[in-house]
Amino acid sequence: MYAALKSIGAYVPEKVLTNKDFESMVDTTDEWITKRTGIKERHIAADDELTSDMGVEAAKVAISRAGLEIDDIDMIVCATISPDYFCMPSTACVIASKLGRSNVTAFDISAACTGFIYALAVAKAFIESGMKKNVLIIGAEKLSAIVDYTDRTTCVLFGDGAGAAVISATEDKSEAITDIHISADGNYGDLLMTPGCGVKNPCSEKVVEEKLATMKMRGNETFKIAVRTLTSDVVNILQDNGIEAKDIKHFIPHQANYRIIKAVGDALQLAPEQVVLTVGKYGNTSSASIPMAMNDIWESGRLQQGDTMLLDAFGGGLTWGSALLPFAGKSAN
Ligand SMILES: CC(C)(COP(=O)(O)OP(=O)(O)OC[C@H]1O[C@@H](n2cnc3c(N)ncnc32)[C@H](O)[C@@H]1OP(=O)(O)O)[C@@H](O)C(=O)NCCC(=O)NCCS
Repeated sequence: MYAALKSIGAYVPEKVLTNKDFESMVDTTDEWITKRTGIKERHIAADDELTSDMGVEAAKVAISRAGLEIDDIDMIVCATISPDYFCMPSTACVIASKLGRSNVTAFDISAACTGFIYALAVAKAFIESGMKKNVLIIGAEKLSAIVDYTDRTTCVLFGDGAGAAVISATEDKSEAITDIHISADGNYGDLLMTPGCGVKNPCSEKVVEEKLATMKMRGNETFKIAVRTLTSDVVNILQDNGIEAKDIKHFIPHQANYRIIKAVGDALQLAPEQVVLTVGKYGNTSSASIPMAMNDIWESGRLQQGDTMLLDAFGGGLTWGSALLPFAGKSAN
């Protein structure tokens, strides 16, 4: 039995925060943000809109596009670093409940921006082992809830949103997810972290005052490791599978920074039309960024059944990963 990606869906919250808006919030300019990151705007969830709510909306779209009902789903995996609740219940459990599905396997994955690729690997393994048939994987983030809007070095980067995909069992090898690499190096954990409200620094007045429960990043160091790691990772997965970069129809990288994406694309000598770019309109939505980008090209008709996709992500942990797979769902038109 093989595992195939049968559908994609996404949800983008309504409210938009532009670079211009930040000019009155912190010491920054539209020009700096555009030049250093490629980001022009990002979407922000409503106050009462939770990570699970966005995940549910993306999930409904993905399930319907797969031609399935919620009861056909036998496992729900949610990748997130902005869960509804600290510790429990998991956001996957909340999503299962909101979708009206009980008695189902459901759990979260914490692999930051690489979360969607980790979830894809887990779905593939469960399906290939025969344990599950239809796995719903979700990347959902309300990063606005863990951003320090007084820190110009991080606040301009992140946005909210969700993406979801249905991974199903198939006997057709041409539909199968070809390969996935997932990796981590905890020695670099302090480059990108939320230091507060875990067991090490339990929630306290000090944690609140010092905003320790928000994201802290050593951006420039992270940038250099990201470019190096992402490039070697995609080169390795292509070599391992005897595939040349020119044969990739869509390179769908994690959308953190246009300059990182360009550096990796240039190293692979990819043409601009092979590279999917949504960072300009969504910013960095962590685990949601790859499925949101995939959904964008599906809805615009660019992503067609059978197209070869190369996914690539890097994030806190540090974690990184890549995946090579055909799009096994129906085309939009
Ligand atoms: C965050 C990032 C955009 C910063 O860009 P950069 O070119 O590395 O910039 P630096 O951090 O070296 O900062 C350069 C200067 O710009 C300033 N700066 C930072 N943010 C700024 C902002 N929003 N507006 C204006 N100036 C800013 C810095 O304070 C620094 O000023 P200084 O030279 O006076 O100290 C970039 O490092 C990045 O994208 N990092 C990786 C992100 C990532 O991949 N994360 C992992 C996945 S989530």
